[in-house]
Amino acid sequence: MPAGFQQLGGETVTGTLALSVFTAVLGSLEFGYNIGVINAPQKIIEADYNATWVHRHGEPIPTGTLTSLWSLSVAIFSIGGMLSSFCVGFISEWLGRRKAMLINNLLAFIGGSLMGLSKLCRSFEMMIFGRFIIGAYCGLASGLTPMYVGEIAPTSLRGALGTLHQLAIVTGILIAQILGMESLLGSEDLWPVLLGLTVVPTVLQMALLPFCPESPRFLYIVRCQEHHAKSGLRRLTGRLEVGDMLAEMKEEKRRMDMERKVSILELFRSPIYRQPMIISILLQLSQQLSGINAIFYYSTSIFTKAGVQSPVNATIGAGVVNCAFTVVSLFLVERMGRRTLHMLGLGGMCISAIIMTVALALLDSVPWMSYISMLSIFGFVAFFEVGPGPIPWFFVAELFSQGPRPAAMAVAGCSNWTANFIIGMCFQSVAELCGPYVFLIFAALLLFFLIFTFFRVPETRGKTFDQIAANFNQHSAGGMMDMDLDKPSTELDYLG
Ligand code: GLC
Repeated sequence: MPAGFQQLGGETVTGTLALSVFTAVLGSLEFGYNIGVINAPQKIIEADYNATWVHRHGEPIPTGTLTSLWSLSVAIFSIGGMLSSFCVGFISEWLGRRKAMLINNLLAFIGGSLMGLSKLCRSFEMMIFGRFIIGAYCGLASGLTPMYVGEIAPTSLRGALGTLHQLAIVTGILIAQILGMESLLGSEDLWPVLLGLTVVPTVLQMALLPFCPESPRFLYIVRCQEHHAKSGLRRLTGRLEVGDMLAEMKEEKRRMDMERKVSILELFRSPIYRQPMIISILLQLSQQLSGINAIFYYSTSIFTKAGVQSPVNATIGAGVVNCAFTVVSLFLVERMGRRTLHMLGLGGMCISAIIMTVALALLDSVPWMSYISMLSIFGFVAFFEVGPGPIPWFFVAELFSQGPRPAAMAVAGCSNWTANFIIGMCFQSVAELCGPYVFLIFAALLLFFLIFTFFRVPETRGKTFDQIAANFNQHSAGGMMDMDLDKPSTELDYLG
């Protein structure tokens, strides 16, 4: 084996593969950073909004206006994501995966600069617009990264490498939580630096992308560039002989050429795609409607209500648990499979939500319940990362072959961002209405998604894209769907 090559899960990880995955997930890191960055410095940035208002109008900002401006600053991020994620299919086909990631960085630059300079320019409009643009960047990154990684990963490592997208997101959230502490960058003077720092991974990604090969599947199946696809495959695998992989792609291309181009509408109309599309959307919804972002957006106030002594540290604790369990999932996903882990995660979250509700309801009469509620929140986050966090992101790329994949990623991504927006906007008011019982709503939703996964979601571990699609074709033709496709293939085990 050449130097610099690592053997992992029986598969060779070349330097080029490692570099390409690392470079792609820098986009995910940035996505996570921008989810987490706005939480801690809220009060300080609000004070600056007020200062700007006083400067312009000579009087303090009305409380209602300030609340609206702040909610808008938070939520407009998901609106940007919703809109751009819908364009993932078109952009990734037009520019290719690699160039799309490269050009997307322009949005990060513009967004980061607008936010970073907004204090200097005394303009909360710049901040709000910057959040919109960075949201648009994240919407594209949340589709492009899993697509590229899924396409360049060897079959037996597709889940593990796919999980790195989520690992980078949670690392980004944690970095933002830590840097956002008042003693670091979350202070009156330094918060623009905190928000502007988002351009750092951008610069790094732009510098590294030229050294990463374009997805060979895209080059060969979509662009018909056999020669380039071959050289990309050689670099990614470290092998000179890549004929078996090309043969497998050839077969997929042959089938794709017989089909018409798959539009978003067709994903729902065609019986072949309807089932995997419904599964993709419901998995994305299971991720967001699990209530995870109720914790990540409002953790400080939840921990305060739960009687926790130091809510800011508890929030960072949640971030650490979040990272640690994504690593656990990384190691389990190729052994236990997607389906099992997703169900384990949903079940664990459901039980944690029920325990949390009981603890919050008993808090007034039993003071030590504050520990139980804190532990159940940690449990909730841990189980999220076992399955519902990482799996939906890469599962969509797995369920579809080359033709329908981009459109499917767009629809799934947009469902994810829409649900994210709804939770961000509604959680606080629903929590006020329901008091300690609010997490029971999530428990009920989690139970529903658990039942759905049990009956509808097949295992994809170790299967080529073609085998997964064939399973759905067989099902749509009236045959039985094999839920436990879990017999890893031995042949054609790269890029499948
Ligand atoms: C997932 C979700 C994101 C959430 C994060 C928490 O990536 O898509 O919305 O904030 O996990 O770890």
